[in-house]
Amino acid sequence: MKIISAPDYQSMSRKAANIISAQVILFPDSVLGLATGSTPLGVYQQLIDWYKKGDLDFSKVRSVNLDEYCGLAGDHEQSYRYYMNTNFFKHINISMENTYVPNGMAQDVDAECRRYDKIINDLGGIDLQLLGIGHTGHIGFNEPDEDFDKMTHCVKLKQKTIDANSRFFERVDQVPKYAITMGIKAIMQAKKLLLVANGENKADILCRSLFGPVTPKVPASILQLHNDLTVVADEAALSLIRSKYPEAIG
Ligand code: GLP
Repeated sequence: MKIISAPDYQSMSRKAANIISAQVILFPDSVLGLATGSTPLGVYQQLIDWYKKGDLDFSKVRSVNLDEYCGLAGDHEQSYRYYMNTNFFKHINISMENTYVPNGMAQDVDAECRRYDKIINDLGGIDLQLLGIGHTGHIGFNEPDEDFDKMTHCVKLKQKTIDANSRFFERVDQVPKYAITMGIKAIMQAKKLLLVANGENKADILCRSLFGPVTPKVPASILQLHNDLTVVADEAALSLIRSKYPEAIG
């Protein structure tokens, strides 16, 4: 595990974007695992800027997103498909048919989960997976549980997650209660993992995830077992790690 500290959000975003950028330059047909939430927005913005300057080419890139809310269509403003299209895909030269997000409107959710696992499998797995972290320690929407859920599955969102994500909706009761998420297996089989975190309110969960016991009660703790994990976080998110394990920060 490599922990890279950044003084602020903008710097965190640029450092993380640099890692993705290197991946795309070295391996233009990479399979990128992508994440949503407010944390990666600056990363996408930076990649868009470099693309517009002519430094990046996404024409051969394939992407698979971590998750999608159940019951939201791709044109719903709070769906993750809409987020990806508006915050990233439509500003770069990726082919839309090479971008995959679970279908939140699938009638047969189990079939959709199996379809999504097959997509990831057919792509040959993920080369670089970008991750944010939820306050419950979730990655994608893998919420705390008794076991690590390996395959793509439907998950009942924790109230803490619903409350945190309600900031994007007009009312908390509009936040979907269920989501489809990539499972722990596809995430852990990604060749490289890049976790981004910012803000003091992530300090506790980041420290528990990276230095606490590996347990499905803190899903992100499984990342400790990956052999190519890079964490890029701002000083606020690293504050607890800085005070407890200063030597861990590179
Ligand atoms: C959502 C997403 C996660 C994301 C998390 C944190 O629940 N499903 O993939 O990491 O939110 O979001 P934020 O970056 O807004 O704190």
